[in-house]
Amino acid sequence: MERTLIILKPDAVQRGLMGKILTRFEEKGLKVVGARFAKLSEDLLAQHYQDHKERPFYKGLVRFMSESPVLVMALEGVGAISVCRKMLGATFGRDAEPGTIRGDFGISRSYNLVHGSDSPEAAQREIGLFFDAEEIVEWHPAGHTWVYDAEDLG
Ligand code: RTP
Ligand code: MG
Repeated sequence: MERTLIILKPDAVQRGLMGKILTRFEEKGLKVVGARFAKLSEDLLAQHYQDHKERPFYKGLVRFMSESPVLVMALEGVGAISVCRKMLGATFGRDAEPGTIRGDFGISRSYNLVHGSDSPEAAQREIGLFFDAEEIVEWHPAGHTWVYDAEDLG
């Protein structure tokens, strides 16, 4: 099992797409183990986007991400990091394939609805940034015995 950090960005919240997007993750078999609805500070976003500091879009990105609330979630599942990245689609909605979240709901570059961790190291760092250890909830969805086979569950 693996965990990843997903953020439903301000455009997803403002457009009333939180439910639709979360449903996709739930239906795929990913489990919410942490959730926080908040307006993020520029300081926290500077840490989250530390690798993008020198990029030309950095300032605009932090402004966009801080000006309206977001839903931050830790999701758990087998291969959760790459599974979620595939579900997100290419960075820009206009390039993303139909069937992906960005491909189905977005056409913009910066306003691309969802963030997903891109590696195990990033996932660990990002989950630690947004959640205290006790805010991550261990639980067992009853239906998961029909989502994951015995081998998946170890
Ligand atoms: P994310 O981190 O949000 O999951 O997206 P990503 O890996 O697909 O894209 P990344 O290269 O990490 O860029 C982070 C976010 O910055 C915005 N962006 N805008 N206007 C632009 O040229 C541009 N390039 C990137 C997007 O919101 C992107 O998700
Ligand atoms: Mg990224």
